[in-house]
Amino acid sequence: MKPLGQHPAPRHVIAHLSDPQMLAGRPLHGKVDTEARMRAALDRLSAIDPPPHAIVFTGDLADRGEPEAYAVLRALVEPAAAQCGAQVVWVMGNHDERAAYAQGLLDRAATDAPQDEVHDVDGLRIISLDTSVPGYHHGEIGTEQLAWLADQLATPAEHGTLLAVHHPPIPVPMLEAAALIELHDQAALADVIRGTDVRGIIGGHFHYTSWSTFAGVPVSVASSTCYTEDPATPGLTSGVDGHQAFTMLHVYADAVVHSVVPVAGAPEVVGHPAELAEQLEALDPTELFELVSGKESPLYSNEL
Ligand SMILES: [Fe+2]
Ligand SMILES: [Fe+2]
Repeated sequence: MKPLGQHPAPRHVIAHLSDPQMLAGRPLHGKVDTEARMRAALDRLSAIDPPPHAIVFTGDLADRGEPEAYAVLRALVEPAAAQCGAQVVWVMGNHDERAAYAQGLLDRAATDAPQDEVHDVDGLRIISLDTSVPGYHHGEIGTEQLAWLADQLATPAEHGTLLAVHHPPIPVPMLEAAALIELHDQAALADVIRGTDVRGIIGGHFHYTSWSTFAGVPVSVASSTCYTEDPATPGLTSGVDGHQAFTMLHVYADAVVHSVVPVAGAPEVVGHPAELAEQLEALDPTELFELVSGKESPLYSNEL
């Protein structure tokens, strides 16, 4: 569909999914079918137009780091990505295991080294930075990794950079327990980010959607596709089998727009068919303005 407003079409469309926490052959916490949840998320993603140029998964890909879980995830995601012509960007999380992740998702040799990667998505750089710490759930970025990141960012990318991490470098006021396993020494990362072409930082880990800024850069946290944390719970934490969601990023020359997409559908109470878009595109600007902005327009009385 051609733009109907003052903004041109976005240059890049990025799907941001997080925390699928795949388990091989058994439900997560005895209740959540992680494979079914992943299928549902990919089904919803496949209905989005225009389709994404890249699909980014910000960690906790396999709940126990099992090779079989990575194989199932890959078998689900790669065909879905190929269908819409999207690159896949994986990011390590605290539930992942580096050796199985490297072998199972990146076709690398098994290694305990940090799994950092740079992707070029039609001029938009996406850096996958491994914040995991072997044997622990909190996040750290080693000094060698910070030096590597600074080196990468020393050369700006054509359309700027998105930094994808698992542990978001922001406070978690709606899930204070997560602060116990947050990214340590966030100030050191801020020193590397500040003044570079990083246009956004995306992360996961919280299992609910959140936004903030870090070193002057917008931060967006995607919810989870397996189970979510209920931020209105009176308990310290409360994981629930509902409200699963992912985030779409639309990257413009001077803006990045984040939109949350619930995985579960809901009954439609009002709407207009897709064919209406062609009719709108065919109208001259005055007709279009009156039809879509006029309060007496038949568009709002369901006469069209
Ligand atoms: Fe997680
Ligand atoms: Fe996590």
